[in-house]
Amino acid sequence: MISTIPLPTITPNTTEKKQNTFKSIFPTAENIPQQFQLPTPINQREYLINGELRHWDGEVETVLSPVHIQTEDGLVPATVGHFPLLTEEESLAALNAAVAAYDRGRGAWPTMSVAQRIEHMQDFAYRMKEKRDEVVKLLMWEIGKSCKDSQKEFDRTVSYIEDTIDALKNLDRISSRFEISEGVIGQIRRAPLGVVLCMGPSNYPLNETFALLIPALIMGNTVIMKLPRPGVLFCNPLLEAFQESFPAGVVNTVYGSGRVVTPPLMTSGKVSAFAFIGSSRAANKLKKQHPKLNRLRTIYGLEAKNPGIVLPNADLDLTVKECILGTLSYNGQRCTALKILFVHRQIVDTFLEKFAAAVSQLVVGMPWDEDVTITPLPDAQKPEYFSDLVNDAAHHGARVINPGGGTVDGSIFYPAVLYPVTPAMRLYSEEQFGPVIPVVPYDDIETPIDYIVNSDHGQQVSIFGQDTDAIADLIDPLVSQVCRVNLNSQCQRGPDTFPFTGRKDSAVGTLSVSDALRSFSIRTLVAAKDQPLNKAIITEIVRERKSNFLSTDFIL
Ligand code: G3H
Repeated sequence: MISTIPLPTITPNTTEKKQNTFKSIFPTAENIPQQFQLPTPINQREYLINGELRHWDGEVETVLSPVHIQTEDGLVPATVGHFPLLTEEESLAALNAAVAAYDRGRGAWPTMSVAQRIEHMQDFAYRMKEKRDEVVKLLMWEIGKSCKDSQKEFDRTVSYIEDTIDALKNLDRISSRFEISEGVIGQIRRAPLGVVLCMGPSNYPLNETFALLIPALIMGNTVIMKLPRPGVLFCNPLLEAFQESFPAGVVNTVYGSGRVVTPPLMTSGKVSAFAFIGSSRAANKLKKQHPKLNRLRTIYGLEAKNPGIVLPNADLDLTVKECILGTLSYNGQRCTALKILFVHRQIVDTFLEKFAAAVSQLVVGMPWDEDVTITPLPDAQKPEYFSDLVNDAAHHGARVINPGGGTVDGSIFYPAVLYPVTPAMRLYSEEQFGPVIPVVPYDDIETPIDYIVNSDHGQQVSIFGQDTDAIADLIDPLVSQVCRVNLNSQCQRGPDTFPFTGRKDSAVGTLSVSDALRSFSIRTLVAAKDQPLNKAIITEIVRERKSNFLSTDFIL
């Protein structure tokens, strides 16, 4: 059980600073490096509706950081600031602004030329880049993500915008021509859907929210963005950029409890696309509230329980390295994380020895610590939840095989590797979304295959091995079960040009730089029978640039 794990066996880091007593993992206020200190709390009272940054005088929600500070009264979570707890009234105001800006497809934004929309997006990217340091620091404090990963999240999002612009230019170039088939002339382009509700998750509040928002916007939709909790304040420095870069009503923000602000949006029937990354339970509940389901397009990234399968002849050093990245990057809080490892019994002892040693080498600390992997958890309930999972596995016969694994210190949970895990344990099927790693020994390869076939999830799998026959025998059945089979590599979303999706309860629709443009638009065409009058009409419209849609303008 957790309480019996001797605390001194944990060596969070090899540096002198981290070899202090267990409790010293959290800093005093003075110990926080100058460049990472939050100057003043971000007390946000603004929300963006119809191009106005409106002021909110009502209730606010205080944002407590997962980073705790040592004080004379003990460990105290740092206060990051607060944000507005809006009500149904403001939510409907955001909706009305988005509906008006779309204006049944007749608004300035949906009818604007692609080249002009691209200019607005480039302007936004330019303004966004200027806020990099502020946004990165807030991500670190708000969700406890390491400095390196927070920077990566920011830079990857900027690249996503730039790649999206390039992909749209390509798409537009292909559409800048007429097709003639069976005596019919046609020009086929992609047109927007309407008002899009974008909701991203807490683990990638910037990247995943924007990976929905950016393609939705650039295709001519108007948007309501609801940020996750936690994961709101990091976006505060970008509000002005949204306000200045896009016409009024094109981007609107709502804050507060999802239970209060999202149902009015869906029950209105005025949302045309619901883009959501989170749990299928929440997605389904919201979707059902829409009165006209056939008008609602859904684009979801949902839960996953990606398995790693370690074959008997796997290169164990490489396997351990990838399994560490796969299971524990950002404390295992990734939808793509490896959440269960099936290891062949012939090699399981060696694997466990190497894996436990690698876990012990991980740096545990604050988001600004160099090379840190294990950082404070943003959800205060999570340490208890993880302890429950560990206790349940222990109750059914598994042990924590790494020294100090499962120890809780405030918001830090020391990774726990559980072995042998069986179907009787919650960890076998539950998506833990954190630093608890179940290892299942297997003799027959059908064991992990059956697991995947019977799972409710179908996102990705990782196969570790060197025997090409064995690997090929797994690839063919598994591509029909999941949407990405990784060879000797952790599961991951990137590169963002690759399709990211899943089967069963893991996703609806496909995201990638180019797929997302399709997800947030619909093919529409102008067609005419090939006869002199129609040819003359089309020629004149095109020559005199009378339409943004019916046009052969070629974006360079
Ligand atoms: O939480 C799910 C993210 O899409 C994972 O992205 O694989 O790049 O960390 P990643």
